[in-house]
Amino acid sequence: MQQEISPELYQKVASYIKKNSALDYSNAFHHNLKIALNDRTEANQLHSCEEYYFFIQQNPQEYQELIQQLTIGETYFFRYTQQFDFLRNTVFPEYSQSLQEKTTATINIWSAACSSGEEPYSIAMTVHELFGKNKNLVNIFATDIDHNAIQSARQGIYRKNSFRSENEKWSQKQYFVEQEHSFQLQQAIINQVQFQQLNFLELENTPFAQNKFHVIFCRNALIYFSQKTVYQLIERFHDMLLDGGYLFLGPAEYFPKSQFSFVMEPQGHSIYRKIKTPEKKIKASPQVLKKTQLDSNQSNRVYTIQKPRKSYFMKSEASDTSHPNTSVSKNYQQLYEDAFHLYQQKSLADAEKLFKECTSDEKTEIRARIALAHIFSDQNKHTEALEQCQLVLQQEPVNGDAYFLMGMLYQQINDFLQAEKMLRKSIYCQENHYLARYFLAGLLEEKGERNKAQKEYQNIVNLSDNCGHHEIHPLLRDHTLTFEQVFNICSPKLSSDNQK
Ligand SMILES: C[S@@+](CC[C@H](N)C(=O)[O-])C[C@H]1O[C@@H](n2cnc3c(N)ncnc32)[C@H](O)[C@@H]1O
Repeated sequence: MQQEISPELYQKVASYIKKNSALDYSNAFHHNLKIALNDRTEANQLHSCEEYYFFIQQNPQEYQELIQQLTIGETYFFRYTQQFDFLRNTVFPEYSQSLQEKTTATINIWSAACSSGEEPYSIAMTVHELFGKNKNLVNIFATDIDHNAIQSARQGIYRKNSFRSENEKWSQKQYFVEQEHSFQLQQAIINQVQFQQLNFLELENTPFAQNKFHVIFCRNALIYFSQKTVYQLIERFHDMLLDGGYLFLGPAEYFPKSQFSFVMEPQGHSIYRKIKTPEKKIKASPQVLKKTQLDSNQSNRVYTIQKPRKSYFMKSEASDTSHPNTSVSKNYQQLYEDAFHLYQQKSLADAEKLFKECTSDEKTEIRARIALAHIFSDQNKHTEALEQCQLVLQQEPVNGDAYFLMGMLYQQINDFLQAEKMLRKSIYCQENHYLARYFLAGLLEEKGERNKAQKEYQNIVNLSDNCGHHEIHPLLRDHTLTFEQVFNICSPKLSSDNQK
């Protein structure tokens, strides 16, 4: 049975991990840390997680086991299909042109946190498909901190769980030999990837850091590192990319692009391109960054530093000298209400514009960003939506609506594991967040965990008697489900079940 972890113990463990490893679990409650603590306590036959906390301080090997479990290598072939489509349709055609024109001799790709190999092998299959007998002009390097993952990757044997994307059938048929309970990858694809154990946080002065790449994949490994570590790493990747090279991140991985010369690719699938002028920019806090058009290619967005923004109602602010601050916030409040009204009227572009204005004022910023995330999510602009959620969490690490929206976004891109994590975080932040509970119940049902789903339905129904439900952002409430609607869906589920 899972033990409850008190907030005090959670913070103690998170601080210890942060001090010793650059993994940062301290800014919010991370469900997987709780699971890992429970698992390792049980594996070591200790009585409590508190006891385990003292145990890891005396036992470096066990501490490593815990870190390994936390950076668990969840992965599958062609994860985030749109990124592979972009590789196939945009990146490779561009570089094969360079090969033909002999402006480049080979194409170098690095999968920096490759886990058990599904990611670099997906790249290799794409290369095989496009380059045929010229495939050796593409070098694929794959590294991971986890020695066991590298060993397993080199063998190229996979189970069903590794085939979860839409490309599954195509890849299974063509490149794998089915065995009794597994699939063996063809040797030709295995040979295309060079594996090596490597910690990307310790690249300083290593020969590997001298390499230059056209493409770097580092997906779903940065998510739990501290912001400072992520920035240092992005800087390192920036140095190791050739001009115009591409960085592929996971959808929840975010960095302020202003500090590095990157543009985000217009499709918004967490793909960034190194700008040709490598000059670094001055550091600035994310709040004063503004998106401006810079390139001749108007669809590429470049982030530059902006002077403090003029207030929306600059005139009245100037004339009202007696209460300047009240006047500014009141006007932003009005602006926010106008934006909301426009959204209700379905004038989405205008609403978006005004909500963006509202992000300049601290009183309206969080609400406006949640609204923007919702609008972007409706338009399938996942990266932009996740970016807004991350900005909210930077200001307010326990914002349940931001985590809830992230849960919805992960569901949209079929990453159900992350979706579940985010919904749980939302509930941790606001335990009476009825929408998070409702969608979590749906995911649990999908997974066949019926009892757990029932518990969630029960929790929602209880919200009407106990402390009431969390005041969800009105835009989410009105455009998803109200509490009454969720209640009406959940209660028959419970009663019909009880009758059985
Ligand atoms: C969730 S997996 C991601 C696999 C793959 N990139 C994907 O997105 O499907 C995260 C991987 O990051 C690796 N990792 C964590 N910290 C690392 C570090 N400092 N250096 C290299 N790899 C690391 C873990 O060992 C794990 O295999």
